[in-house]
Amino acid sequence: MHILGVDIGGTGIKVAPVDVTTGKLVAERVKVATPHPAEPDAIAAAVRELVTGFGWSGPAGIAFPGVITDGTTRTAANLDPAWIGMDARGLFGKATGLQVVMINDADAAGLAEMKFGAGAGHQGTVLMLTLGTGIGSALFNGGVLVPNTEFGHIEIRGKDAEKRASEHAKEEHDLSWEKWAGQVDEYLQRMEALLSPGLFIIGGGISRKSDKFLPLLTGLTAPVVPAALHNDAGIVGAAMAGS
Ligand code: BGC
Repeated sequence: MHILGVDIGGTGIKVAPVDVTTGKLVAERVKVATPHPAEPDAIAAAVRELVTGFGWSGPAGIAFPGVITDGTTRTAANLDPAWIGMDARGLFGKATGLQVVMINDADAAGLAEMKFGAGAGHQGTVLMLTLGTGIGSALFNGGVLVPNTEFGHIEIRGKDAEKRASEHAKEEHDLSWEKWAGQVDEYLQRMEALLSPGLFIIGGGISRKSDKFLPLLTGLTAPVVPAALHNDAGIVGAAMAGS
């Protein structure tokens, strides 16, 4: 079964058709920059163009970087505030003419990793964290997702955790791997103290460079592994949600 997976991020929008029985992309993904200001109509137009580019008329799943309840976007920390309270399912459905399902981006990535990637077979508590423009979280126990956790926004040293431990924070403050990994370690230690996961999975584009920072995370009991699907996890999980 092929479903179109769309992953909307603060920096880019990525799209590819996915075989949801294997978790594989069935065509090369296409990525465009997120329009700025990242307002609903501008993003809907960009998604429409991408959908048209694939000539897609089947179902689609859309991952969004904010809390989603019943197709409505409730928060938008790294996009325009006009998203707050928006019927995103209706907006994208109208713009693309497709049947769409909305899901939080980190939840989507987590679903993909639990089925096809680094979390497959884990029955205990698993915490997936995506380190990108912000920090997204997906919490599982017994393989079941608790949707819409927002652990990127816990406060550390008086700041949102995502302002210290996201990939964006590393770039913005030009942090060395050592300095940034120290901040990630402190963040993960806090999460471990609160949730005692049996496994951490680190996603986002930076998970491709995990050899640069995972060995520097020394303060944790639970194993920390990179996402097996790297940055495609969001697209795959979006498609899974749309199936
Ligand atoms: C948002 C989350 C999102 C994460 C990653 C955070 O700022 O609040 O909902 O999952 O960024 O995009």
